[in-house]
Amino acid sequence: MNEKLIRKIEQLKERRNAVILAHNYQPGEIQDLADFTGDSLGLSIKASQTDADTIVFCGVLFMAETAAILSPDKTVLLPEINAGCPMADMITADQLRQLKQEHPEALVVCYVNSSAEVKAESDYCCTSANAVEVVRSLPEDKQVLFVPDQHLGQFVAEKTGRDITLWPGYCTSHVFITTDDIQAAKAKYPEAIVMAHPECTEPVKALADELLSTSQMLKLAAQGVARQFIIATETGIIHSLKKQNPDLEFIPASHRAICPNMKKITLDKVIASLEEMQYEITLPEAISTRAKKALDRMVEILPTK
Ligand code: 13P
Ligand code: SF4
Repeated sequence: MNEKLIRKIEQLKERRNAVILAHNYQPGEIQDLADFTGDSLGLSIKASQTDADTIVFCGVLFMAETAAILSPDKTVLLPEINAGCPMADMITADQLRQLKQEHPEALVVCYVNSSAEVKAESDYCCTSANAVEVVRSLPEDKQVLFVPDQHLGQFVAEKTGRDITLWPGYCTSHVFITTDDIQAAKAKYPEAIVMAHPECTEPVKALADELLSTSQMLKLAAQGVARQFIIATETGIIHSLKKQNPDLEFIPASHRAICPNMKKITLDKVIASLEEMQYEITLPEAISTRAKKALDRMVEILPTK
């Protein structure tokens, strides 16, 4: 059944001169059919470099918006228009404007998990892969406002020692991972390396060996540093980890760490997306031009890991 759908997607892709990009948290079958899977930074770079006419973005709204801003001449499609990111919705452009008024001298760094309007109000954008490097690149005397993820922001503050004002946003899926989960997994797999995403809470991160973006997790697993890994992030990444390292063992820290929005994309919706050219993501030029400045800075600053 899936094979038939996949063949259909291949035909439609050719007809539309389309490329399929999928985030590491997508359902396994979507990751398997994508031309490129990756973390938010890798996907943004791919979106800015592709020569396809159409980008089908299998992810959530802020990712498709980012692709549309970075590739203004392409058609960017999100197969499910209701695939949003609750964290991105935790700050509005009005709230950020208010925060900027309260700290007029500060620089604003926004996590890519934010709306295009929020990016347009920001000086720099970053992903979990390069947030530390982005903040390190800023003049040392400048105060930093970091939105919307308090946990990634806290991680950056600790790594850089910078004066960072945090916004109280968080990922509704990563907060399901608890210290009890990590301790139980460590007791069962004492030799395992714990890889956690910086979106996890601070007590969870304190128990981890490595704090990494999803693609950085894939890179470390491939380096042969251990046989077993406890994975403290959204469980979708386990699909690629297993596929790329069939001899290694990957233990999800919590089976509850699932992002329902990432799982809204299905093969049928990818077909409908290419057939109907839906749902096209477009933005007002005034927003897009300003947001692009912050995003261009993000894709220029590469992570050191
Ligand atoms: P990365 O894949 O960039 O680590 O992002 C995690 C995430 O939450 C995306 O929504
Ligand atoms: Fe947003 Fe968290 Fe889902 Fe990523 S995993 S899209 S941060 S809710």
